[in-house]
Amino acid sequence: MAIKRTWWKEAVGYQIYPASFMDTNSDGIGDLNGIRSKLDYLKELGIGFIWITPIYESPNVDNGYDISDYQKILRTYGTMEEFDLLLKEAHEHGIRIIMDLVINHTSDQHSWFVESRSSVKDDYRDYYIWADGTIDGPPNDWVSIFGGSAWEYDETTNQYYLHVFAKEQPDLNWENPRVKRELFQMIDWWLDKGIDGFRVDAISHIKKAPLETRSTEDPFDSFKNVPGIEKHLEELRDIFKKRDILTVGEANGVSAVEAHQWVGEKEGYFNMLFEFDHISLWNKDEQETLDVIHFKQAITAWQTALADGVGWNALYMENHDIPRSVSSFGSEEIVFRQTSAKALALSFLLLQGTPFIYQGQEIGMTNMPFASIDDIDAVDTKNFYYEMIQSGVEPEKAMHVIRRTARDNARTPMQWTAEEYAGFSKRQPWMVINPNKQEINVLDELNDSNSVLNFYKKVIQLRKENEALIYGSYKLYLPDHPQLFVYSRRLAEERFVIIINLSKEFASADLPENVQIEDWDLQLSNLNEYKIHQHTIFAPYEARVYKHK
Ligand code: GLC
Ligand code: CA
Repeated sequence: MAIKRTWWKEAVGYQIYPASFMDTNSDGIGDLNGIRSKLDYLKELGIGFIWITPIYESPNVDNGYDISDYQKILRTYGTMEEFDLLLKEAHEHGIRIIMDLVINHTSDQHSWFVESRSSVKDDYRDYYIWADGTIDGPPNDWVSIFGGSAWEYDETTNQYYLHVFAKEQPDLNWENPRVKRELFQMIDWWLDKGIDGFRVDAISHIKKAPLETRSTEDPFDSFKNVPGIEKHLEELRDIFKKRDILTVGEANGVSAVEAHQWVGEKEGYFNMLFEFDHISLWNKDEQETLDVIHFKQAITAWQTALADGVGWNALYMENHDIPRSVSSFGSEEIVFRQTSAKALALSFLLLQGTPFIYQGQEIGMTNMPFASIDDIDAVDTKNFYYEMIQSGVEPEKAMHVIRRTARDNARTPMQWTAEEYAGFSKRQPWMVINPNKQEINVLDELNDSNSVLNFYKKVIQLRKENEALIYGSYKLYLPDHPQLFVYSRRLAEERFVIIINLSKEFASADLPENVQIEDWDLQLSNLNEYKIHQHTIFAPYEARVYKHK
């Protein structure tokens, strides 16, 4: 099947976490004018669209993912006029904007919930999921993704409400047609404004199993991709389908096998999905290195499931919910840091799909050496820390786990310069700044032709100039090699081979026989431009891109 050409397949995306991107009014928190001030930077990088995480009115229990008014901008970030200006200027730069759509839950401060909790007879009662307790307490044994019971007791009406995330994020009741109608109207309102699409938050959780269902081995099974969800998603799709927009669903619990149903070119619910398979290879275990074979399997499963025009992938190595990829999948060690950041760039930017770069990833930002739990803001991380302490884990041991896994690792302020507040703000920001701003910052990297930043630019440029790197087919070589990730992209006669050593050790391999070395030109490399041999040794984290002559 021929692959349909669209802008969102060709563009490279960039995720902005506004609180930590750029502060222009010196209150220590990033803002909309800050994003606007960096449009030239983003354009230079080669970015085609930005995804901005929630900027709506919110008490910020979960940093904006608890929305109290979908149609207002949080005062800290700016005004609706400033948003309109950002949208206009972004479009003038050739940069589209996609917004975060958080419709699994609202804030407990949203007027719907305030009404809902006021009385069992309230008109908004059924906007949320309420149930009677049992002798054991909550209605059932479901647990929240952020820790503890998924139910919160509410005195006013002597019932419990369901929250898949924090207790300040009550889940909306998608079985109530009125809820859907209101949400769909709100979606249309934003699209009428001229935004270019949505990243759809936590969307695999909107359907819940019957409340009698007991938790299984996977504690979140009762609200993760539950049968019956199709009906809701089809209705949502019909709202999206009327427009030429980009939609990407956050789809925890959706496997590559089902991918075609979720993102099929014709009937799919979204254009693409953020799958969880490859990033879940990094967890709380004491694992210190990337499991390269499983990484390749996870990536390849999605690449093949959506091949030949079946659907399209969303590609990412970082976002605001996971540690920095250099620190987990690469290496922070000074000799490897930049090389591994570049190797990781080639591990996702040239695959089949639309790449999303997370702010700071393009300069190789790393995890934060958090001194204590007081430096942490994220509600889930705090919960997990105190759960560990309560179960007897030594504080230093618990902090070790937190440093490796906390999502705040990705939320430290963007490092624009080596100055005191990293060029992010003129005062102490809301979140600690990584002390390595001296070595890792945009300004220095702009001036260094060998920097991670300039490597990202080159890779993005290469992708733009070669259709095979966008629309070409994907093929994995050497699936069982424990260090090398080797894949090809091909569109008619245009062919590329990408070879990446994802380990800290030297790696050697015999290249596939049909890769006749004398026919290939080196396009890009993160080390010296070695000549390739059929039997080749790769340095730690060495990565190369070849094009067929
Ligand atoms: C998604 C967001 C995450 C948020 C959660 C609840 O997973 O990416 O940041 O905490 O949904 O909205
Ligand atoms: Ca500010």
